[in-house]
Amino acid sequence: MPISTDITKEVEALIAIETSNVANMANISAHLKDKGGWHWVGFYIVEEESEELVLGPFQGPIACTRLKKGKGVCAKSWIDNATVVAPNVHDFEGHVACSSLSNSELVIPVRSKGKVVAVIDIDSVEYDDFSTEQIRILEEVVFKLEERWVD
Ligand code: SME
Repeated sequence: MPISTDITKEVEALIAIETSNVANMANISAHLKDKGGWHWVGFYIVEEESEELVLGPFQGPIACTRLKKGKGVCAKSWIDNATVVAPNVHDFEGHVACSSLSNSELVIPVRSKGKVVAVIDIDSVEYDDFSTEQIRILEEVVFKLEERWVD
């Protein structure tokens, strides 16, 4: 189900008085999963020492705990510091299949002082499930998290 622009305000209110990144990522995952009905919604957090992304708060089936730099949709978003859309994950070279049910995927970087500190990853069972408008709304949701991010 498509999300509406209302979600930006809802997320803003949801995280307005909380300073824990983990708590905020947890509630954002839950709210987006609930409203968007996607297969999996969650965060991977940048771990500089290991050059890996480590599983953070999420909603959905169990997932890969670590993703290496240079492989997959999440790592591409991290390294390119850009939103990455895979309308058909099976066509995305290096895609890391944590669930065989996922067919399209969207990853948006979470930045602090311009640097990527985490990514939000959304997986759908539908092919081509992320329209330009949906991506714009989700980027605004991430912006709300960035405004509250504590290093
Ligand atoms: N598909 C991702 C891995 C994370 S799972 O989808 C939860 C990737 O290629 O980076």
